[in-house]
Amino acid sequence: MPLQLMPPHYYPVLLPLLVLAAVAGVSAGGGGDGDVVERTYIVRVDADAKPSVYPTHAHWYEAAVLAAAGDGSEWPEGGPLIHTYSAAFQGFSARMSPAAAEALASAPGVAAVVPERVRQLATTRSPRFLGLLSSPPSALLAESDFGADLVIAIVDTGISPAHRSFHDRGLGPVPGRWRGLCASGPGFPPSSCNRKLVGARFFSKGYEATSGRMNETAEVRSALDTDGHGTHTASIAAGRYVFPASTLGYARGVAAGMAPKARLAAYKVCWVGGCFDSDILAAFDAAVADGVDVVSLSVGGVVVPYYLDAIAIGAFGATEAGIVVSASAGNGGPGGLTVTNVAPWMATVGAGSMDRAFPANVRLGDGQVLDGVSVYGGPALESGKLYELVYAGASGGGASSASDGYSASMCLDGSLDPAAVRGKIVVCDRGVNSRAAKGDVVRRAGGVGMVLANGAFDGEGLVADCHVLPATAVGAAAGDRLRKYIASATKQRPATGTILFEGTHLGVHPAPVVAAFSARGPNPQSPEILKPDLIAPGLNILAAWPSGVGPAGIPSDGRSTEFNILSGTSMACPHVSGLAALLKAAHPSWSPAAIKSALMTTAYVRDNSNGTVADESTGAAAGAFDLGAGHVDPMRAMDPGLVYDIGPSDYVSFLCNLNYTERNIRAVTRRPADCRGARRAGHAGNLNYPSLSATFVAAGAAAAAAASRTHFIRTVTNVGGGSAVYRASVTAPEGCNVTVQPRRLAFRRDGQRLSFAVRVEAALGGRMEPGSSLVRSGALTWSDGRHVVRSPIVVTVQAPLQ
Ligand SMILES: *[C@@H]1O[C@H](CO)[C@@H](O)[C@H](O)[C@H]1NC(C)=O
Ligand SMILES: *[C@@H]1O[C@H](CO)[C@@H](O)[C@H](O)[C@H]1NC(C)=O
Ligand SMILES: *[C@@H]1O[C@H](CO)[C@@H](O)[C@H](O)[C@H]1NC(C)=O
Ligand SMILES: *[C@@H]1O[C@H](CO)[C@@H](O)[C@H](O)[C@H]1NC(C)=O
Repeated sequence: MPLQLMPPHYYPVLLPLLVLAAVAGVSAGGGGDGDVVERTYIVRVDADAKPSVYPTHAHWYEAAVLAAAGDGSEWPEGGPLIHTYSAAFQGFSARMSPAAAEALASAPGVAAVVPERVRQLATTRSPRFLGLLSSPPSALLAESDFGADLVIAIVDTGISPAHRSFHDRGLGPVPGRWRGLCASGPGFPPSSCNRKLVGARFFSKGYEATSGRMNETAEVRSALDTDGHGTHTASIAAGRYVFPASTLGYARGVAAGMAPKARLAAYKVCWVGGCFDSDILAAFDAAVADGVDVVSLSVGGVVVPYYLDAIAIGAFGATEAGIVVSASAGNGGPGGLTVTNVAPWMATVGAGSMDRAFPANVRLGDGQVLDGVSVYGGPALESGKLYELVYAGASGGGASSASDGYSASMCLDGSLDPAAVRGKIVVCDRGVNSRAAKGDVVRRAGGVGMVLANGAFDGEGLVADCHVLPATAVGAAAGDRLRKYIASATKQRPATGTILFEGTHLGVHPAPVVAAFSARGPNPQSPEILKPDLIAPGLNILAAWPSGVGPAGIPSDGRSTEFNILSGTSMACPHVSGLAALLKAAHPSWSPAAIKSALMTTAYVRDNSNGTVADESTGAAAGAFDLGAGHVDPMRAMDPGLVYDIGPSDYVSFLCNLNYTERNIRAVTRRPADCRGARRAGHAGNLNYPSLSATFVAAGAAAAAAASRTHFIRTVTNVGGGSAVYRASVTAPEGCNVTVQPRRLAFRRDGQRLSFAVRVEAALGGRMEPGSSLVRSGALTWSDGRHVVRSPIVVTVQAPLQ
């Protein structure tokens, strides 16, 4: 009789696990059954640890969960497993109680048990910006054949397959090594994929395990994008040329992705309830197995050690398979320590502006003009007419009787009194609800226009939105003037104004600037690694948009547009993903670290006015914690001269030097770690990274001058095509001495590797307040006269809290 396998969830719990069950019984003992809250855990197992009694890994996993949970647990139909992973990661996800998770963690063959977290998309959500993509330089495109035959995985909200940006006209056959599939579902027939969109999958089991069955009226169980974010990011990375493209009349021209011939594969992991780790990891796993070349992840991270971070773990598996992982830095700026997705094996991308602007200034009745921005494209305000201005937060200003001044100042739903705002331009404070939603509240209350004013906390950073009524955004200083002007108004002399929409301005100076929202260093997990790595355009980005989703991103927006303007590090990340595909196409032998190094060491830090790139939030020069190595420069990245390469075992040494336990290291890397050698060899800052970050603790309480020294070892690989002699030059961070040894590197051949040491001595002066920190930036540059290989050096001195 042939042996028939039963579905895993019927498979009996076999002998080796009885021991486990006893352990589970003990550790669950104190808690009392029933009232333990179940959640999703991601479980990493050791490769090759599967007991031979189990025919498949799924059988083993299921048995392990059942044993750890003990008797009396109830499982959803289909068994306890949510996902099983085998490519980027070895293991599974399942729902269980904390006690069961603890029991499972010490089971044989289990390397780590990590609680799931929920992520959010890294767009500033309602910013609907306008702006053409910076045209990719043609030489780079030609040399890489526009990225043809490389596949970029977009891990996001799915994709709108019928969009013109994803048409496959003129493309060759699907690359032979592609092993992915086109999962069909509602709104996504099998014919949705083509030679451009070569694969599509969706992962919702983790989401539904926590949030319950999805509401299939509100969202779609397929890779179809009903949000817009994934369509937008995919077309930034690899949309084909589309002409003409514009949003509601702004920024007319050609829309084009960075790698216009590269193939796309959509992995939908983000749903109305967020993006769940277990689903993201399933997407990484599928992407590795499918054979993608680049993973683009515009999803915010969390700040936990790497061994507890499913994205960091999945990205490690992908990197080991030779895949470049590019992720958004997050939108938590401009405060420090806000950067996310900070593992050194990922490219962490912040957002900058381009030289394009959408001015929409406010002219007041007293003649003042306040600078604003907007991409509102509907019927204009009456030309020449001054409208009455009202600030809903002022007493008697326009709050409904049911509401308080605070809600009204924010223009929250239902907070405005129609009698007080009808026919007027309403001033709303930024914050709490989305910017476009405030416009909708004003419109529904009968207002004719809106000025969205930053508070002190928001600073001067502005996002132009595709509002549902004539509206503009102004900075904190202008907001203060505006509120003051309205407060000084009288019955005889009411406050009046209008908004002057000026359309698209090009050639704006200075550009780029670091977007105020772009998340900043230092790296909260490992300050030895400078993050973000670099910045790319993330402000006013015009890209593809699904028909049937309004551009303002609010349900009441019934408008339809083929392109839309968004801002966020979500938009910056796919620029780097597309460029990474071009570099990989041109240099197939380069590792992910080499590609990242090329992008970083060729990045620029001077803007189009030849000043240091500025920070939008302050107007002052940006530092290394704001822009990392600088703004990406595609042309130069093609031929960087030297690269700082890193292999998987180097990351193991790095994790050893973070003092992770061998078990925690194994959770990330799947390989046994012997840290003795690595720890003898130095410190975490010795990872062969293309930037240098030295951190010192100021000695003593209320320390006076702190004198500290450290050194870095680096190895560069010659990729310039032949013999070359490089010389070092250093711009030392203020108050520091930096020496390089040797100062001259003579390469005899391509591919040769040479090492050098960088010593940093800091005497950063004066008394420091307890808890304060001092940051100084400089740079180390190698040049052979033809290539310029620049690494930022950042020195941080932290004064202890007391
Ligand atoms: C599902 O979504 C629709 C549309 O948003 C909504 O009208 C309906 O109430 C929702 N159903 C449930 C059960 O939440
Ligand atoms: C730009 O500024 C740098 C440093 O201030 C200076 O050395 C360089 O000559 C300037 N370049 C141009 C084109 O003005
Ligand atoms: C690791 O431990 C060593 C020895 O205790 C210490 O000197 C070093 O600073 C630690 N490194 C980190 C990154 O915590
Ligand atoms: C830097 O070098 C100079 C000259 O050798 C020396 O006087 C100074 O003390 C050094 N500074 C630090 C911070 O080590």
